[in-house]
Amino acid sequence: MPTAIRIERTGGPEVLTPADVEVPSPGPGEVLIDVAAAGVNYIDTYQRAGVYSMNLPYTPGLEGAGTIAEVGAGVTDLAPGDTVAWQGYPGGYAQRAVVPADIAVPVPDGVPAETAAAVMLQGITAHYLVNSTYPVSEGETILVHAAAGGVGLLLTQLAKAKGARVLGTVSTAEKETLARRAGADEVIRYTDRDFSEVVDELTGGEGVPVVYDGVGASTYDASLRCLRRRGMLVLFGASSGPVPPIDPQVLNSGGSLYLTRPTAADYVATRDELTRRTGDLFSAVAAGTLDVRVGARYPLADARTAHEDLEGRRTTGKVLLVP
Ligand SMILES: NC(=O)c1ccc[n+]([C@@H]2O[C@H](COP(=O)([O-])OP(=O)(O)OC[C@H]3O[C@@H](n4cnc5c(N)ncnc54)[C@H](OP(=O)(O)O)[C@@H]3O)[C@@H](O)[C@H]2O)c1
Repeated sequence: MPTAIRIERTGGPEVLTPADVEVPSPGPGEVLIDVAAAGVNYIDTYQRAGVYSMNLPYTPGLEGAGTIAEVGAGVTDLAPGDTVAWQGYPGGYAQRAVVPADIAVPVPDGVPAETAAAVMLQGITAHYLVNSTYPVSEGETILVHAAAGGVGLLLTQLAKAKGARVLGTVSTAEKETLARRAGADEVIRYTDRDFSEVVDELTGGEGVPVVYDGVGASTYDASLRCLRRRGMLVLFGASSGPVPPIDPQVLNSGGSLYLTRPTAADYVATRDELTRRTGDLFSAVAAGTLDVRVGARYPLADARTAHEDLEGRRTTGKVLLVP
């Protein structure tokens, strides 16, 4: 049985190699976690492919949850046996991971460790997008791309809870059903139709105040066309590929538009912000008002298949590796 997945060189999913690795003891300010579940995120594919540079070799995976096995010197607020979740530090695709204690958050009773792992990065992202990047107001109509994806299903639910009317895009009938179940009012198959035309029809020609676009290359252009005057394109990812350089003039001619490219680290920049966002998410999960759909679970050794399925658009909701 492999104890971790290692990447020695960048490339396709085939570079994800099961291996036996020695786990170091936690250093000062660190904790050693027995990983119950590790989250697979789209960013893992960018790092694996070399789009985002990483020091090689490394163990991929930016989030997970599990039980603390050992704490390093100076860690006083966490103890062995505590269930914690973390995001934003590599090494998750493993049976055991060492992470800084200041990014490990206690998981409350009522939230299974697997659900905690599933809601960390994508949940925090959905949370900051609808509350901070462009705070959604009651009654607004918004557009969410890849609405049946990991971020998409959570973003749709959080925006609905704030009283928005959500238009979602998806590629298949199965994904349409899931997006509607998450609360999407209208679902557009953007693989069949020009979604900007449909948004135009659905908003009586006015456009939307915000587009949450994690798809990138194939959507950003039409996303700009969906915006009403002074609307905001929130470009938060690039699952279809990177967006080419944009001429600022398109913002002017589109109606004094705003463009932002946010990243999670800047929205959980302090421990306070991290615990506030995860606290909101865990409370909603425990109260049953936020459904964290785990679309697929793979054994650790099958990380390659998990990446192939994610990049092949075959997944919905969260993808987990279970060591
Ligand atoms: N900036 C941040 O802080 C932050 C944090 C987390 C995630 N993200 C970004 O958010 C996006 C979603 O992440 P996720 O982990 O939740 O992934 P995901 O949405 O579960 O999976 C990606 C989805 O993108 C859609 N897609 C459209 N064109 C695609 C293509 N050519 N190839 C592959 N997929 C395509 C697919 O949905 P359809 O089949 O329905 O089209 C696919 O299921 C990613 O771009 C990710 O990098 C950003």
